[in-house]
Amino acid sequence: MINKAIASVIPHFPKKFVWIFSKKYIAGETIDEAILASKSLNEHGVKVTVDLLGEFITNISQADENRDQYLRIVDAFQNAKINGNYSIKPTSFGLLIDPEKCYQNIRTIVALAAKYNSFVRIDMEDAECVDLEMTLYKRLKLEFPHNVGLVIQAYLYRTESDVDNLLKLHTPDSPLNFRLCKGIYIESEDISIKDPKKINDNYLKILDKLLFNGVHVGIATHDKKLINGALELIKKHNVPKDMYEFQMLYGVTPELRNSIVGEGHDMRVYVPYGKDWFGYSTRRLKENPKMAQHVIKSIFVK
Ligand code: FDA
Repeated sequence: MINKAIASVIPHFPKKFVWIFSKKYIAGETIDEAILASKSLNEHGVKVTVDLLGEFITNISQADENRDQYLRIVDAFQNAKINGNYSIKPTSFGLLIDPEKCYQNIRTIVALAAKYNSFVRIDMEDAECVDLEMTLYKRLKLEFPHNVGLVIQAYLYRTESDVDNLLKLHTPDSPLNFRLCKGIYIESEDISIKDPKKINDNYLKILDKLLFNGVHVGIATHDKKLINGALELIKKHNVPKDMYEFQMLYGVTPELRNSIVGEGHDMRVYVPYGKDWFGYSTRRLKENPKMAQHVIKSIFVK
């Protein structure tokens, strides 16, 4: 309740004030800042996936701008020899305005990444986007079977059956590649699990299925219980090191991240950057008021 109240007033705080907490979670506004943050992570044995902020565009002209920015990012990251790949939110390319244009824009980015033998992850956005984003993934996978992956969300009831259907497309020549997360958007209880323990149970159930079927999984979580559960499943299925990695968000639980890296597991950090950091930060707060406690802590607890 308190979190909700805090979350509702934070979008009205001055930008400068919101930056005090945002800077911990955002690499900066420019490509150079994203490269700097990524280099530092690489030096600590951590791979990155870079994300240009700017989802849910309202004007389709922004889609081409975002595409061009991503093309610059891919070239710049390649030139800087960053050990990393790219995450994209399809609504940044007009998914809900013009899905075909969105597909063409993303296709252009994936084609450039593929030229460099790199990889693009399609983030999963709110429930309205799930079917469209799965279709996008399946279409791109036909042309770029090794250069594109999808995010799946454990909190949705539908995810297990989506995974069962997607598994039919998993072949040696065109393997599935997923990031598994809990899910960050506020969804209705008709379609999403609300009990945190049940979300975790579903997460591990889906992870078990993916690892059993030899799907490469990005295990995206900062939840120690899930990380321990994942480690047990990796052991149970004797999963080779190159078939999974842990993933965390920039600035979140760095000690836990370092301990996982120290144990010899691959780790990738999601590095968001861009001028839309204010919109991103305040949208995240509205979507997930639980984050408000992290915000307040990072503002007042130094
Ligand atoms: P949980 O929320 O229980 O957090 C566990 C602990 O981690 C907390 O107790 C706290 O200590 C710490 N923590 C978590 N979030 C924090 C924060 N923001 N600030 C400070 N501390 C924090 N979701 C989605 O719907 N679509 C997507 O495409 C993605 N992509 C994605 C990529 C990566 C690499 C990650 C790690 C996460 C996502 N997510 C996502 C978000 C995901 O769905 C989920 O909301 C968050 O990871 C938080 O869930 P945890 O599993 O970390 O557990």
